[in-house]
Amino acid sequence: MEEKEVKTFQFVVVGGGIAGVTCVEQLSSQTPCADVALITAGPHIKAVTNYRQMSRTLEEFDVEEQPSSILQEKFPNLSVIHSAVRSLDTKSHRVQTADGRYFGYNKLCICSGGRPKLLSQDNPHVLGIRDTDSAQEFQKRLSNARRIVVVGNGGIALELVYEVEGCDVIWAVKDKSIGNTFFDAGAAQFLIPSLEADKPAAAAPCKRLRYTTEEPTPEAAQTFTADRHSRGGSSASTESGSALGPDWHQGIILKGSEQVTRRVSVEYQCEVENIFTSKDHLTSSQGTHRHENESWPVYIQLTNGKTFGCDFIVSATGVVPNSEPFINGNTFAVAEDGGLCVDDHMLTSEPDVYAAGDVCTACWEHSPLWQQMRLWTQARQMGWYAGRCMAAHASTQPIELDFCFELFSHVTRFFNYKVVLLGKFNGQGLERDHELLVRCTKGHEYVKVILSRGRMVGAVLIGETDLEETFENLILNQMDLTPYGEDLLNPNIDIEDYFD
Ligand SMILES: *[C@@H]1O[C@H](CO)[C@@H](O)[C@H](O)[C@H]1NC(C)=O
Ligand SMILES: *[C@@H]1O[C@H](CO)[C@@H](O)[C@H](O)[C@H]1NC(C)=O
Repeated sequence: MEEKEVKTFQFVVVGGGIAGVTCVEQLSSQTPCADVALITAGPHIKAVTNYRQMSRTLEEFDVEEQPSSILQEKFPNLSVIHSAVRSLDTKSHRVQTADGRYFGYNKLCICSGGRPKLLSQDNPHVLGIRDTDSAQEFQKRLSNARRIVVVGNGGIALELVYEVEGCDVIWAVKDKSIGNTFFDAGAAQFLIPSLEADKPAAAAPCKRLRYTTEEPTPEAAQTFTADRHSRGGSSASTESGSALGPDWHQGIILKGSEQVTRRVSVEYQCEVENIFTSKDHLTSSQGTHRHENESWPVYIQLTNGKTFGCDFIVSATGVVPNSEPFINGNTFAVAEDGGLCVDDHMLTSEPDVYAAGDVCTACWEHSPLWQQMRLWTQARQMGWYAGRCMAAHASTQPIELDFCFELFSHVTRFFNYKVVLLGKFNGQGLERDHELLVRCTKGHEYVKVILSRGRMVGAVLIGETDLEETFENLILNQMDLTPYGEDLLNPNIDIEDYFD
């Protein structure tokens, strides 16, 4: 690298998403005299608004796009550099931007996020949805669409199929049930009738388009094979989540109905075999649906043998960490999922380089009740904690792993129900000796508790159950609940009183 005048900052943060912006805010407010730079390509940053701490670990917030000038007004010692990063040289502690400039750092935090895994890289009929930008493009194209195919089973697919109206949706999921990253087949069946019903007029779900990793973690996969309740015969990699209660055998398959505005049909346990444009399709002998006589811009053939014509395909099959520009020329430890490995201080394997949010993989030994999921909640927590670690290390102060990494917790809305996930909510990584208690009232609530050796280790709460704080406490204090037996979920007993 040519020696020339290089502006050096105490702290440089790369990425204008939730992790990067939270990290910058934390650094700037904790060390107001420090030179901080945020390097981000776009003119807008993503800001956390309406933050609300609901309990010790549960938090809710909205995400808003704002001009980056808002950050600079708030923090006069912050420089915002509008460019993408071309390369990083960890030895000389320098970042090169796409516009050819170099910036030095004492400490760097990489928060470059992830990008959608696309089914097809350059097919104009395949749309990957990752954030608000791509969601806007999606809405534009949706206005002329009669039928779309959604591929994927993560959070973004769940939100999409519920939100889309006035257009047929074919939803291809590779699992036996919908949403299996978030809940088991029982909870999925609780939610499915909502897809058939008209959306309540008052429903204004928070627009929080978000994906999560699609693949069950190796840990989760072990769970199924060890799980005595799981349905037999399925391979570990296709069925996620733990046990089903005895009432959950009947598979409910959604059929589009003429009188409702939402028409979703789910194709279970299938992936994409092939995508044709109409021209390819007409000259190919591959069978279409026999009833289909119309011509469509694009056709998708699924591994279950069915082919559907549609206006476009939405690829919602997860993301890959955006780590390439940083890896080249350096010796980062990279996790199997492509993320930069970070330790319990959000430090990568390169000195003075931290990472937070979707680009990183938590490689420290996790608390038994926590797992990484690439959700906005964790992007905020990691960005915030990385900022604190950078500031602490810069002043050689000790810092301990933050409490938010003790217990996994997440609150969201799916299909207009409040959904709270706590701890090993899907039995992730548990031994075969775990037990489940389920309580479900159709159209009202679904409550599942995971017990291991009499202790609560996880819970799924769908609906207005009002149980999250009590259960969070029971999980955190690991009290032996054996004496309470099934009364734990007895709707006629107020558990809160029980444990006060
Ligand atoms: C910016 O940094 C300088 C020192 O570098 C400090 O004197 C000043 O107070 C800082 N500004 C704010 C708003 O904190
Ligand atoms: C199918 O298309 C052909 C010509 O393209 C037309 O004659 C026929 O009526 C169509 N059939 C149906 C069921 O729409």
